[in-house]
Amino acid sequence: MSILNEKLLFLFSLIYICLIITITLAQPNLVYKRCKNTENYTINSAYQRNLDTTLSTLPTTNSGLGFFNFSTGEGSNTANSFALCRGDVNPDECSRCLNDSIVNLRKLCPNQKEAMAFYHKCFLQYSNNNLLNSRYPDQFNGALRPLMDELRGVAAAGDQLLKFATGNRTGPGFVRIYALLQCSPYLTEQQCSECLEDEVSKIGIHGNGKIGGKIVLATCYLRFEIYPFFNQSTRAAPQQPAGMIDSIFL
Ligand SMILES: *[C@@H]1O[C@H](CO)[C@@H](O)[C@H](O)[C@H]1NC(C)=O
Ligand SMILES: *[C@@H]1O[C@H](CO)[C@@H](O)[C@H](O)[C@H]1NC(C)=O
Ligand SMILES: *[C@@H]1O[C@H](CO)[C@@H](O)[C@H](O)[C@H]1NC(C)=O
Ligand SMILES: *[C@@H]1O[C@H](CO)[C@@H](O)[C@H](O)[C@H]1NC(C)=O
Ligand SMILES: *[C@@H]1O[C@H](CO)[C@@H](O)[C@H](O)[C@H]1NC(C)=O
Repeated sequence: MSILNEKLLFLFSLIYICLIITITLAQPNLVYKRCKNTENYTINSAYQRNLDTTLSTLPTTNSGLGFFNFSTGEGSNTANSFALCRGDVNPDECSRCLNDSIVNLRKLCPNQKEAMAFYHKCFLQYSNNNLLNSRYPDQFNGALRPLMDELRGVAAAGDQLLKFATGNRTGPGFVRIYALLQCSPYLTEQQCSECLEDEVSKIGIHGNGKIGGKIVLATCYLRFEIYPFFNQSTRAAPQQPAGMIDSIFL
């Protein structure tokens, strides 16, 4: 019944790697950047050291599907980071874009604790704040709700062996939202639909703008994330109707 938020784990202490060396090599295609000017760090501060460690480790945390996250430190000096590659970018380009964007964004926002940038092929953000809540809850929910409604219909219409649906939609920026919905197959279509509707409505209450969550009732299951977490070759939902959503905040 509860939404279990994925939490950043604070792991490892790692050797500081000087990123400056590669500055001259880094020219990713910048689409949009934002440096948050209200909080700056000072040179050699604990935050800077945590950020250095975080960003040197981030590229090694690929989920396998172009989603990265890593955090270092504790309390207000925690440096959180996360990155995403566009869904159609191959792993090698993804890795290159992320490596270059790290160098590029730190140059663009040299002393800000929080910064984000969209490049043509990847997105990077770091902050002393938790990044796992969406900064764009309206756009996020604007994409999530129709995706849930569509998948709920597909899952409910399943047969007596399988009531299951997966799908994805474009969310804020080029973030994609992935969702998986499933009912116990012995439920009727209507029972399945109602059970899932109950869960979807709980996202609204507890999870506004959350970048991911899971809800489990006894007879149905729902999960959504901003990275693919299910096997793409399993039975998928039908093509999304064109033009239904595409909330871009840029
Ligand atoms: C942080 O640094 C930027 C320049 O790098 C400056 O424009 C901004 O005013 C500073 N913010 C604070 C709160 O000192
Ligand atoms: C972020 O990374 C940690 C491991 O460092 C992992 O346990 C956690 O689930 C990740 N968060 C998301 C949203 O994937
Ligand atoms: C990106 O950086 C990671 C480690 O920081 C490295 O393992 C990887 O080879 C780099 N990728 C590219 C394409 O240079
Ligand atoms: C995904 O599903 C296909 C077909 O069922 C299977 O062959 C493949 O091994 C699965 N991949 C993973 C990563 O589970
Ligand atoms: C997203 O969904 C579409 C169908 O709506 C599907 O063709 C595509 O493979 C999915 N992409 C990913 C990365 O899951």
